[in-house]
Amino acid sequence: MKIGAIRGVKDILPAEIGKWQEVEFAARETLENHGYREIRIPVFEYTELFARSIGQGTDIIEKEMYTFEDSKGSKISLRPEGTAGVVRAAIEHHLLGPSAINKLYYIGPMFRHERPQKGRYRQFYQIGAELLGTDNPRVDAEVLSMLHLLLQHLGIAGISLELNSLGCKACRPVYRATLQDFLKAAGDALCNDCKRRTDLNPLRVLDCKNPHCREATREAPSVLASLCRECMDHFETVKVTLDELALPYEINERLVRGLDYYTRTTFEFTTHQLGAQNAVAAGGRYDGLVEELGGPATPGIGFALGMERLIALLPDTVGRRDRDVLYLAPLGKAAIDRTPHLLHELRRRGVCAETDYQGKSLKSQMKKADKMRARYVGILGDDELNEGVVLLRNMENKDQQKVPLDKFVEVISTTLSRDHS
Ligand code: HAM
Repeated sequence: MKIGAIRGVKDILPAEIGKWQEVEFAARETLENHGYREIRIPVFEYTELFARSIGQGTDIIEKEMYTFEDSKGSKISLRPEGTAGVVRAAIEHHLLGPSAINKLYYIGPMFRHERPQKGRYRQFYQIGAELLGTDNPRVDAEVLSMLHLLLQHLGIAGISLELNSLGCKACRPVYRATLQDFLKAAGDALCNDCKRRTDLNPLRVLDCKNPHCREATREAPSVLASLCRECMDHFETVKVTLDELALPYEINERLVRGLDYYTRTTFEFTTHQLGAQNAVAAGGRYDGLVEELGGPATPGIGFALGMERLIALLPDTVGRRDRDVLYLAPLGKAAIDRTPHLLHELRRRGVCAETDYQGKSLKSQMKKADKMRARYVGILGDDELNEGVVLLRNMENKDQQKVPLDKFVEVISTTLSRDHS
């Protein structure tokens, strides 16, 4: 019996990989231009780390983590996101200090046991960035403009920025209580999940997709009306800075996010082109998380971009990087015997060289070269060997010329690099 891949995971095949590599390249360039440095964190951590940061009442912690016990009985989970691990690493390696600003980014797979559908996988890739050490609202706008710039560089169109503020530890409890009163009054109009969330995590009710819950919470109190003076001023400066940067946004006061660590600014970049899974990138501020995980009080903000969703939006022109191939067509045993050394020398000079050691006819080798869209073919038969040449054929204009065998590698590598300049 054939063994297939696990449901909800996806192979990324060579035909698509150009897009992935181009996205990674563009992301590294944009992030590093903004002062971010890469960090590589483990794909598994103690379950406790995620439970304490993402929050007990969230879907991720309640039902989406891949958790197991190792042979020593420690509870371990595959990472459902990157923020918790980055903060853990920053604390553990003493990257945080009173005046230190850390800008870190990561690229890699995350794991969530969600119901698979278009744009939603159980192993998916994120490009994430975290900025630790300042709560200046201009930084929030800078993070958003950086993300916007990256999407622009990649030619992604039709994206909107949704923005909200969730307040701080002073004003959020007031909002939570106000919302809870409202939801309790709504009572039976809510789905069973939302009834449970009313006690546990009332903000999540605003995110429920059930049309009855949507209707019942249409008049729910707005989080923005409960912000304290400091949070209001903070949000105002974020908006003014975005206006100055000419970065359009819409306020969405129901944007509550599925992770509990957020404070103040939260955001999502959304599109109408992906169906139900419309968030391409999302994030926000988490000013209490470092302290919650045992580090010195340090504010932070960050985002993660879903690579599968981003790649689904890319124009087809992105990631097409055909390499110039030289196909070597040896005819007869003596030529085949010379082929490994010739190929090795070509590749040592950076030429993408291919052959087929099967000793097939010239016609069949030309067909093969055509199929792999080779730019040049080097024909080497007994006649050429006797004469000490390779017959070089340009596959575009069909020109042929004899190149001395001992100069062949040099001629090819300079011809290809000249073609590129
Ligand atoms: P998140 O909203 O859970 O936030 O995920 C961020 C992005 O990852 C989503 O907008 C989406 O594009 C992608 N994503 C999430 N789940 C899936 C899935 N099952 N399949 C495909 N793509 C998915 C976070 O993960 C936070 N750590 C972001 C952050 C960083 N906040 C502050 N710093």
